[in-house]
Amino acid sequence: MSVPMLDLAAQNVVVKQKVLNGLSTLIDRCTFVLGENVTGLEADLAGYSGAAFAVGMSSGTDALLVALMALGVGHGDEVILPSFTFFATGGVVARLGAVPVFVDIDPVTFNIAPRAVEAAITARTKAIMPVHLFGQLADMPKIMEIANSKGIPVIEDACQSLGAKGWGKSAGQFGQITGCSFYPTKNLGAFGDAGSTLIRNDESLTQKVRRLRVHGMEPVYVHHEVGMNGRLDEFQALVLRAKLPFLEGWHEGRRKNAKWYMQRMKSLSQDDLQLPLEVVPDGRHIYNQFTVRVKRGRRDKLQAHLKAQGIGSAIFYPISLHKQPCFEYLGYKKGSLPETELASEEVLSLPVYPEMTEAMLEEVAKSVLSFYNDSK
Ligand SMILES: Cc1ncc(COP(=O)(O)O)c(C=O)c1O
Repeated sequence: MSVPMLDLAAQNVVVKQKVLNGLSTLIDRCTFVLGENVTGLEADLAGYSGAAFAVGMSSGTDALLVALMALGVGHGDEVILPSFTFFATGGVVARLGAVPVFVDIDPVTFNIAPRAVEAAITARTKAIMPVHLFGQLADMPKIMEIANSKGIPVIEDACQSLGAKGWGKSAGQFGQITGCSFYPTKNLGAFGDAGSTLIRNDESLTQKVRRLRVHGMEPVYVHHEVGMNGRLDEFQALVLRAKLPFLEGWHEGRRKNAKWYMQRMKSLSQDDLQLPLEVVPDGRHIYNQFTVRVKRGRRDKLQAHLKAQGIGSAIFYPISLHKQPCFEYLGYKKGSLPETELASEEVLSLPVYPEMTEAMLEEVAKSVLSFYNDSK
């Protein structure tokens, strides 16, 4: 049996009829951008996340970009962020003429290391942007303590982690402002690009985000600042509203699959393969990715072995941001972020989507185990 990395068709069936009905109404109504589905989704997302306000955006990238803009990040300002993340986290900083300051990660969680954040702060630091990678919260109490002691705002990149929990709170309830992605591969995925900015408790910051989303315009054709077109489509909003009631079940399905893998693969030595650890107190990892570390330089061999048996897997991320050609001008050298560089060489994500059957999980685990047993 082959097992794909992700099978969205299995998930779409539960919302298909509702989405088709909504689309029919939408076509008749002819309000395609920023209408009642977007307003409804914004209320739903604020309720779900526990942030006071949500603003629907065209993508997770734009949700982060508008967050930086609303905080006034601009030319020459420094923003501290991990290098081990999807490109967008750093791309949005550079697009504003600001300087991405890449720091290293904790090797257990793959999330930004608070000590590294502290060491990177300068007089020009304008924001700190931790990423809740793969579905587990970064060490937010420590990061907030550091940020608050210097009066620096924090932007959470929760693009992979809406619904992740820890320390009695959820993603979006720590930093001043948060970016979420609803790219189709996320636990809550649209039928195209979509995102949302969450604002913890600041109404005037929310108004600014709303204005920036439509070219800084308020009222119509009066532009207070140069914003962007970050608007969200009604169609994507209605898909997301149809899916949101299922999200908790999908998170739990992923968690169940992750636990199953950990039980089935526990015989493997940590020196061969390190399974993901949940380390956040009071926490909930939502496993947008189930990411293992393949030791002894054998990651690519294991991936090829899985592929030969029809098992999907993926590498998030093979080249960290400080080593990307477009950031060469920043002057990072090989070895400057050792944990990040090692992670790029060792990580491998395995299928964990909630619709997987036990037979599918067994197929994946068996293939991983056979790689190690056969090569003993
Ligand atoms: C960590 C992280 N940041 C930012 C983004 C950007 O989101 P989007 O693809 O919706 O623009 C993503 C998603 O791909 C992501 O995983």
